[in-house]
Amino acid sequence: MATSADYPPYEFVETAGGTEEIVGFDVDIARYIATELGYELEITNMDFNGLIPALQAGRADVVMAGMTPTEERKQNVDFSEIYYEAKNMLVFPASDNITGVEDLAGKTLGVQLGSIQEGLGNDLVAATPSITISPLNRINEIVQELKSGRINVAIIEDTVAAGFLANNPDLKAVEIADEEASGSAVAFPKGSERVEDFNRVLAEMKSSGMMEELILKWFGDGEG
Ligand code: ARG
Repeated sequence: MATSADYPPYEFVETAGGTEEIVGFDVDIARYIATELGYELEITNMDFNGLIPALQAGRADVVMAGMTPTEERKQNVDFSEIYYEAKNMLVFPASDNITGVEDLAGKTLGVQLGSIQEGLGNDLVAATPSITISPLNRINEIVQELKSGRINVAIIEDTVAAGFLANNPDLKAVEIADEEASGSAVAFPKGSERVEDFNRVLAEMKSSGMMEELILKWFGDGEG
């Protein structure tokens, strides 16, 4: 499995105890599915932008990275059913007063390269050309650039933003209004025979309450 472990609580590198381990919501789901289906799970960490190319090149059998099954991506990879829904937020220094996308004129906007947030950013630029978009590889780079003032605002998923806000009181966030929720799904190489098996286990996890248990474990009350 390939992932981009810059996305707590979905996937991140835990360094406690002197060892580095990739943990998170997606990793727990992957471990459960692997056990059910009799696979050995090996996790590779890479930039988000490299995940779909890794599937296409056969360097990974599955991707779990909080990845949204968009129509564009479906041309290159197959997806499982959606297992979790999220919304996007604008994140910015607490000293600023941004209330929504209408306040972004003239601002530099950070997004993760290759993400749907980059797509959303490009749509905003098309409507308001005075916005400058700054695509970056890792979410923590985006947070650093925000704190140092090199970018003014970032688009980050609600639950992920909540974790960074808790650790960075100098940042705050508002939800982007009128935006559809975007779900996460497992991605596979096109034509993969594993999709059905994964969907079956995901459905079992939902009906048995296991999924709810993992949502509570990693997202708390699920309110971000
Ligand atoms: N849900 C968004 C997308 O699919 C962002 C996912 C970013 N994931 C990550 N592990 N950094 O584009």
